Amino acid sequence: MENKTVYLNGQYLPLNEAKVSVLDRGFLFGDGIYEVIPSYSGHLFHFQDHLQRLENSLAGIRLANPHTREQWQEIVSPLLDRNVDQYIYLQITRGVASKRDHAFPDNVPATVFVMCSNIVPFAGLNQGVKAISMDDTRWKFCNVKAITLLGNILHRQAAVDQGCAEALLVKDGYLIEGAASNVFAVIDGVLCTPPKGNDILPGITRDVILDLARKNNIPCSEDNIPFSALQEASEIWVTSSTREIIPVVELDSKMVFDGIPGPVWQAMNQIFQAYKQSLIMSEQTFFEFPCEFPVKAMGKAGMELDLLVIEIVRRHVPDVKDDAVTSRPSKDGNFIAITVIIEASSKKQLDAIYQDLTDHPDILMAL
Ligand code: PDD
Repeated sequence: MENKTVYLNGQYLPLNEAKVSVLDRGFLFGDGIYEVIPSYSGHLFHFQDHLQRLENSLAGIRLANPHTREQWQEIVSPLLDRNVDQYIYLQITRGVASKRDHAFPDNVPATVFVMCSNIVPFAGLNQGVKAISMDDTRWKFCNVKAITLLGNILHRQAAVDQGCAEALLVKDGYLIEGAASNVFAVIDGVLCTPPKGNDILPGITRDVILDLARKNNIPCSEDNIPFSALQEASEIWVTSSTREIIPVVELDSKMVFDGIPGPVWQAMNQIFQAYKQSLIMSEQTFFEFPCEFPVKAMGKAGMELDLLVIEIVRRHVPDVKDDAVTSRPSKDGNFIAITVIIEASSKKQLDAIYQDLTDHPDILMAL
């Protein structure tokens, strides 16, 4: 076991020295909540949204937040590594009481535990995964990210036992979410996902996807989805912070449409990856100008995107040579990524280039 540094109750220490009492209410009752937060090259992804969900989960189990948002940032930061993508696991339990009693103890400090693990890209990403459907047997507060995960675990294991990556949960005939993921389906060209409420965990990845879909004119809906409607779905995806957006190509041993990841997934996955990169770039402040800088833009294949991108870049950097441009098609050939290497003179100049690129309707993403 890798003996990495973790945080426990105010101390940073090697993982194998981090110990909690057997009387901890997390151990005895599963009385606690958690968060899983991605960090890309040391940049926390939608950290404030994760902290908001953490606050909602704490309120949901009537446990006071032991730290302010600034303190959470200070606690997590030393564990981050700029050289890798990681996810932060953060857990808060109702602490260690002197005896086992279901009712809340008085004046007991919460147990706070934080660790980081490297994100290993999910193996099924490009070819898609198999899933099964199951009746949702979990409790009534699935919007709370509780550490009490027995229901989710049994659903996931049932899927794994059948050679599948995820179980899609169904309640009263409606699609709910995955055992550890949210679910999307493309039905009649509309990207559909079940609405927020007590039945699902309000996934941060889910919200980011909906936001990106709206910004990229992909029609979407947050209405209840009858499970039977999945027969008409051209695509099904499951989404989470650790696996990102995974296409489901087989459900209950039947192919989803033609059994390969669909075009909306291809587009959204590229948009999502580009968005992650753009967040990293926007937080970076270590450029020393002038410097060589790769301006990247992405659009649909089949048009002269390279000429368009260079025309826009030349508005700001007139002396860019034609051979500074390279283009790379996506694996399926539907999209094309253009890179123009420029000599950037200031952040203001780069901002102006990116503004013009993102304003153009044929450019799906600039990074
Ligand atoms: N789980 N629904 C459930 C039941 C989940 O457990 C998760 C994620 C999600 C997706 O939420 P997000 O996009 O914020 O990760 C939805 C995490 C990854 C876990 O338990 O490890």
